[in-house]
Amino acid sequence: MQLFNPDEFRHHFRCFSTSQTLGIYLDNAATTQIPDEVCQTLLNYYQSGRANVHRSSYPLASEITQQFEKVRTLVAKWLNGSAKEVIWTSGTTDGLNRIADGLNGHFKSGQTILVSALEHHANLVPWQQLCARDKLTLAIIPTTETGDLDYQSYQKLLETHDVALVCCCHVSNSLGVCNDVQKITQLAHQHGALAIIDGAQAVAHLDIDLQFINCDAYLFSGHKVYAPTGIGAIMGQHDFLEQLHPSRFGGEMVQKVTYQNATFRAMPYRLEPGTPNIDGVLALGTAISFLTEHQSGKKAYEQQLLAYCESQLQQINELTILAQPQQRCSVISFVVNNVHPFDIADWLNTQRIAVRCGFHCAMPITEQWAHQGSIRVSLAAYNTFEEIDRFIDSLNQAININLL
Ligand code: ALA
Repeated sequence: MQLFNPDEFRHHFRCFSTSQTLGIYLDNAATTQIPDEVCQTLLNYYQSGRANVHRSSYPLASEITQQFEKVRTLVAKWLNGSAKEVIWTSGTTDGLNRIADGLNGHFKSGQTILVSALEHHANLVPWQQLCARDKLTLAIIPTTETGDLDYQSYQKLLETHDVALVCCCHVSNSLGVCNDVQKITQLAHQHGALAIIDGAQAVAHLDIDLQFINCDAYLFSGHKVYAPTGIGAIMGQHDFLEQLHPSRFGGEMVQKVTYQNATFRAMPYRLEPGTPNIDGVLALGTAISFLTEHQSGKKAYEQQLLAYCESQLQQINELTILAQPQQRCSVISFVVNNVHPFDIADWLNTQRIAVRCGFHCAMPITEQWAHQGSIRVSLAAYNTFEEIDRFIDSLNQAININLL
């Protein structure tokens, strides 16, 4: 495996040289671009004749089924989990909702679900709904003034409440805070609670070891890791998955069906009714192979890029970066003092610089730091130092236009 070469990596993304509209893309926490190899996998599936999986026995159907199941193994290896514990979803939001639905009636009324203050709506609202449905208490693990999770308060909440479940992101999509998810899980387990980790913002950037983290379920979305939209996975531990009621029913998840009743298959199929997102799974497999090939030195490059971007932003007096976490990953959120974030983004738009602006689907935490929302830069391994320089120049222009 060769050491990470940023130019070579970027070269795989034809969109950067052909698109008239893409410009400088710094919105990778929303979705990443996809490499040519991933596009090719999608084209092959559609242009070489497609078939459904797990149903028919003719050669094409068997071949596609094999390729499809290989990706399960690949994903498991990539995150150091087990293939039997990979459940396909349409993305992290879908996975979290399916878990919340699957846990319907599972906890005793009066028990507590602990959710970190850093969460995206996808890892908050489903738990609010479950709490309302099953008469559970929702409690929030606060953050410290650096934006890090307040581990002391977390410990206290575990000691003072009958906690059934802890839900936390690996990396905050709004502030870029990287959480110690192994410690969060260990503490949850010590107090008899389950731990669910939203890995959506982590998998493209960090080396994930699910054996080490040991959470009950870890979720991610393909479209944030160089794969298409509409595919993702729940990586759940066997015992945890066994506790989930299927919340959707149909073909392939059943063992035997009569007019009156049905029995269900073992995991992972029990939670996968209907025709899955076959092209999404195959393309995810290609994205993971592509990432694995480029793994060596990639993380170090991303960290240098992030540190450079942060240091350049720190030199702008009119600007405040939200949160100074112990460990930051990919994301920097900031406000320009006395200027509405949308006014800054408007100027950046005219310069074809793509950032996200607003509350980032994480309203409670973003509002705590910036009542009008923030501007968010989120980096990926194809970004360059030159792009950051151009972004900083344009940002300075935007500040001058709005403040002078
Ligand atoms: N969750 C995505 C984001 O943070 C959409 O932008």
